[in-house]
Amino acid sequence: MNIEEAIRTRRSIRAYEDKPLEDEKLQAVLEAARLAPSAKNDQDCKFLVVRDAATRAKLVDACKGQRFVAQASAVIAGCSLEPERTMSSGLRSGPIDLAIAIDHMTLRARELGLGTCWIGAFDQDQAKKILGIPEGVQIVQFMVLGYPSEDPKPRHRKPLDEIVCYEQWS
Ligand SMILES: Cc1cc2nc3c(=O)[nH]c(=O)nc-3n(C[C@H](O)[C@H](O)[C@H](O)COP(=O)(O)O)c2cc1C
Repeated sequence: MNIEEAIRTRRSIRAYEDKPLEDEKLQAVLEAARLAPSAKNDQDCKFLVVRDAATRAKLVDACKGQRFVAQASAVIAGCSLEPERTMSSGLRSGPIDLAIAIDHMTLRARELGLGTCWIGAFDQDQAKKILGIPEGVQIVQFMVLGYPSEDPKPRHRKPLDEIVCYEQWS
């Protein structure tokens, strides 16, 4: 599968098979995150991988009752170690760095026949408590990972001419 195909066919997967995730595949997905670019190459990312079923079950509640969080083989918390760090644009770099790394993971997972879903709906304090994450660290996103048991149709995207303009704002 080439990059174009992975981009075109990736979907958010919310139903997973009860099938163990091979360590090599998990490592390959994490390696895609490691290779992602980051602001000033600071690599302000840490990934906490949760495979334990009891912990995943606890995370369902912290993730606003999204049950498939417990169904997938792994849940990965993408964390920023310096959540207050800003760039000269005034924007915080942590969420941007994490978003790139997670997107790399979703595409590599797709190539490996795995499904993923971003989880942005979660209670920060509750999730941190469950996972023993220290005060100064922020969870930016969770990503669930496992073998998909659904094959959703592509979701609507705006056409290019609606999201792109050239030379001057219009
Ligand atoms: C930042 C972010 C947060 C998201 N949070 C959730 C979430 O909490 N639960 C969920 O089921 N999907 C979540 N999604 C997935 C989106 O709903 C999904 O990407 C969108 O509907 C487009 O569908 P597709 O990924 O299949 O193309 C999130 C996606 C992003 C990028």
